[in-house]
Amino acid sequence: NFVKAYAPATVANVCCGFDVLGFALDAPGDEVWARKTEAPGITISAIHGIAGLSSDAKENVIGVVAQKMLEDLNITHGLELQLHKGMPVGSGLGSSAASSAAAAFAVNALLGSPFTTQELVMYAMEGERKASGSAHADNVAPSLLGGFVLVRDYEPLDVVPLGVPLELYCTILYPQIELKTSLSRSILKQEIPLKKGIRQWGNLAGLMAGLLKKDYNLLSRSLHDEIFEPERSVLIPLFKQVKEAALAAGALGAGISGSGPSIFALSATLEQAQSVKEAMESVYAGSGIETKTYVSQV
Ligand code: HSE
Repeated sequence: NFVKAYAPATVANVCCGFDVLGFALDAPGDEVWARKTEAPGITISAIHGIAGLSSDAKENVIGVVAQKMLEDLNITHGLELQLHKGMPVGSGLGSSAASSAAAAFAVNALLGSPFTTQELVMYAMEGERKASGSAHADNVAPSLLGGFVLVRDYEPLDVVPLGVPLELYCTILYPQIELKTSLSRSILKQEIPLKKGIRQWGNLAGLMAGLLKKDYNLLSRSLHDEIFEPERSVLIPLFKQVKEAALAAGALGAGISGSGPSIFALSATLEQAQSVKEAMESVYAGSGIETKTYVSQV
């Protein structure tokens, strides 16, 4: 009698949309199971698929999200939760977001759906606040809503689902070093030179237009980030070479997935995404760094 919810990995930022744009993959993803208990309080009775995550409900994002939902509804019974992780943490695949999104969705369904999906985004953001110190929505919103999602504003939250207007495939290479979002946010400069700002919002608008007009060429021209990528990519071994290899193999664009260390590339066909995968993997071959790669339809 568990309610089970699956939430997928996501690519946040998508080059030019720092903190305001993300898209969902089909897989990998996390599952959260939830059921009611007579006794009050939240217990996490099992965590599968990963070692070392806390099962303390105050520490694990799934407990934090569920607790906030119960509090706001004045619910006095308790919950038993289980987490089935399908992806590594600290990878840039929106791992904490997928757990948070699945927890919000499962608990909501268990309680008879008192919240709208947009409200669930706000609860899942509490998981992000716990995991990274910042309640960004660019992973949790696409994980809950699917497709591309624009976070137009945070105060108040204005989330715009865009779906997937054209066929796209995503290749992701995860170099197996752990990079905490809190660290890769802490190194960012707090000011943006006007010239770079202008290019960034030109690209973001171009990316939106390219998606909606189903214009692969415009989409490809817009997949750039000259502000954050140069600052963050120093934390990712062989980043420049992998990106170049992906583009040379025909990807529409490539960049850091979320806060890294994963690197994503978008392609128009599945075959292209497979060749991009091989090209990206070959850069790491013999480097001594273990990698994991994923190819998924967007
Ligand atoms: N937009 C966030 C960041 C996503 O880049 O820090 C983290 O996954």
